[in-house]
Amino acid sequence: MIEPTNLASYVPTATFLTHAIKATTSFDIEALLAQLPITPEDEYIYDEENPDLGWQRGKFHWMPVGRERGNAGRIKQANQPVNPIAERAINGMEAIIEMARQRELLADASALAPPTPRGAVERYFNLPPLDQLPKLDDSEVSKGVRAKARELAKQLRVRLIFDKTAREFTVAIEDDGIGQAPVSIHRTLLSLGLTTKADKFYLIGVFGQGGSSAYAVSKYSWVTSRRAADLLNGEADGVGWTVIKHVFPRGRRDDYFAYLAAAPDGRVPFASEADADAANIRHGTRFVHIGYDFGRGGSAITRQLYTALTVAELQPPRCSIKRSRRSLSEYESRNDNE
Ligand SMILES: Nc1ncnc2c1ncn2[C@@H]1O[C@H](COP(=O)(O)OP(=O)(O)OP(=O)(O)O)[C@@H](O)[C@H]1O
Ligand SMILES: [Mg+2]
Repeated sequence: MIEPTNLASYVPTATFLTHAIKATTSFDIEALLAQLPITPEDEYIYDEENPDLGWQRGKFHWMPVGRERGNAGRIKQANQPVNPIAERAINGMEAIIEMARQRELLADASALAPPTPRGAVERYFNLPPLDQLPKLDDSEVSKGVRAKARELAKQLRVRLIFDKTAREFTVAIEDDGIGQAPVSIHRTLLSLGLTTKADKFYLIGVFGQGGSSAYAVSKYSWVTSRRAADLLNGEADGVGWTVIKHVFPRGRRDDYFAYLAAAPDGRVPFASEADADAANIRHGTRFVHIGYDFGRGGSAITRQLYTALTVAELQPPRCSIKRSRRSLSEYESRNDNE
């Protein structure tokens, strides 16, 4: 078996991670990748029958998302560029619910699952169904509900950033949910058509591909994930990190989406528990989509985003949306005036 390429052999891992989780531009990503030994994408052609073939020991390699060379068709399915953001936000909420559910099971293995997502939110967060929110008034009880919802919303953050120099949008979706252990990231966060949710009626996702649609509208994406320490189920703690990009192979027409892998089995680069702590990475998952293409929706992006999240029944205050201060509003008002 080929040992995974070790990040720590090439970079001071904690420092590298500290920079990695701040990367919001293509320039930042390229600077990170330049520090690593990476086999050029045309030199390693992933073969699912024999992924070891052509693997250069001690290097990182670009591997198709879902370990499926023909993944572009499925990944390019989002019809509105804002939709993938709603998919990611839903995944984040599910990760927060799943953490509560798994902890409930730790305390009582026979506890029955909530029958619906709504039931889960009522049980774990003691919040009323969405359609009761408009009935909130100025009473102390209502204020308490609002405060609780705001507190919960802090665990899921959607940030929209506009880099003036590169004229590039970046969308970050971060949750403080259950996370995935480094060895599981490629089988979950980077899988296609596989879901961990099909038998969980208290979650929404079922197709195992919603989140991946974001790659199609991004120049680069990166992800880090760390599992909640009490829910590791025997897997090692630590943080996994990878970058996802669109690959156009030389002399071929079949483009695909690839992520940086550390081993032929698909594992992503990872760092130890101590390095994760040093870089201040706690449990949960962060996806950052860089060079985000909002298509013709250049103007009023935050309005569209708000609508997309509302349609997805996520309605703030269950999720906090922030935009990057002035630069983005300037961009929007300029485009509105054009
Ligand atoms: N924020 C997250 N935290 C932890 N695990 C996640 C997160 N997002 C995705 N996953 C894992 O990755 C898998 C794939 O996510 P994806 O959104 O592509 O599919 P899904 O949610 O299972 O189904 P759907 O396509 O209906 O959204 C999930 O089943 C889950 O195991
Ligand atoms: Mg999903």
